[in-house]
Amino acid sequence: MANYKITLLKGDGIGPEIVNQAVKVLDKAADKFGFTVEYDEALLGGCAIDATGVPLPEETIAKCKASDSVILGAVGGPKWDNQPGNNRPEAGLLGIRGALGLFANLRPSVIFGPLKSASPIKDEIIGDDMDIMIVRELTGGIYFGERGREEDAAWDTEKYSVAEVERIARVAFDLAMKRNKKLTSVDKANVLESSRLWRQTVVNVAKDYPEVELNHMYVDNCAMQLVRNPKQFDVIVTSNIFGDILSDEASMIAGSIGMLASASLSGGKLGLYEPIHGSAPDIAGKGIANPLATILSVAMMLRYSLAQPEAAQAIETAVAKVLETNRTPDIYEEGMNKVSCEQMGDLVCAQL
Ligand code: NAD
Ligand code: IPM
Ligand code: MN
Repeated sequence: MANYKITLLKGDGIGPEIVNQAVKVLDKAADKFGFTVEYDEALLGGCAIDATGVPLPEETIAKCKASDSVILGAVGGPKWDNQPGNNRPEAGLLGIRGALGLFANLRPSVIFGPLKSASPIKDEIIGDDMDIMIVRELTGGIYFGERGREEDAAWDTEKYSVAEVERIARVAFDLAMKRNKKLTSVDKANVLESSRLWRQTVVNVAKDYPEVELNHMYVDNCAMQLVRNPKQFDVIVTSNIFGDILSDEASMIAGSIGMLASASLSGGKLGLYEPIHGSAPDIAGKGIANPLATILSVAMMLRYSLAQPEAAQAIETAVAKVLETNRTPDIYEEGMNKVSCEQMGDLVCAQL
């Protein structure tokens, strides 16, 4: 029987609440599909600063590297907002992405049928099968470029190498080949030199994928097009910062940021799976967070890292079914059962 070693980075704010639900669902899937999971916990973010003084202890990196995959809740919160520059919880998150070489972040924005009316976008604009895959470059660009501060000035640098753009472009083209063979590369090539290199490199990689229809879009236009006509998109590939922003926007088309899962991949089997949202300090501890983004991240883990596609599909199907009648407050609509974070986890388990 397959046994998987999973490291849990519960993090801060709602992190522990949502990861606990995801673990419950993973255990249920393990029972049903005949595999076992062994968990280990490690500190990341504000909780790590409190316990050790730094947001990413060496032990955390070692534990993650020794596991089959990692599940992350979220990090950060007002308590640590005035930490000096690089000793913030968020620096720990960037650090673990860097340390594990997780250069490809897959953020699917999928509409679950019952949620169509919960989205602020009109039904006819969303259509029946909106399914956008945002491929965000995750270990380069302005997040990792040179930065500095003087008394009355500060700077951050957006820098990309051809090799970095090539490898993320290949991930996106490969995904497009398995989907509807349409790729939109999003940049700001009308202004940024780094974007001109990005575009040139994507055009070069495209020669290896003659079947994929490639188009380029400026990021400001893309932000608008996502709301005007999301159905035009299949796969979007973009830089670290543009992908961060566009994926939060795309989450609302799907109804709530509490719905969007993500996979951070390195090219090897080890991946880090996390919701795209943050630690939601405004609702932390209230038991009302939506755990589905984290539960759906577990489904992505089963698919991309653990080779258990049936279990992944079963979780996604269970989520869709549960949403027909049950909602956490962020996606609540009249006539539905309003449920807590924990109840949502229980319902998905029961459905499984
Ligand atoms: P956020 O995503 O935490 O919250 C934005 C809004 O969405 C809030 O109103 C929150 O209540 C709501 N929300 C988020 N997740 C939800 C869920 N699962 N269910 C219901 N509602 C949900 O973004 P923010 O407020 O800008 O950031 C808060 C903290 O989280 C900051 O410290 C930030 O740096 C950090 N952050 C961490 C990550 C991460 O760990 N991956 C991602 C984004 C932000
Ligand atoms: C995300 C978050 C992080 C990012 C922050 C917390 C560093 O917003 O995962 O989307 O910008 O990548
Ligand atoms: Mn973000």
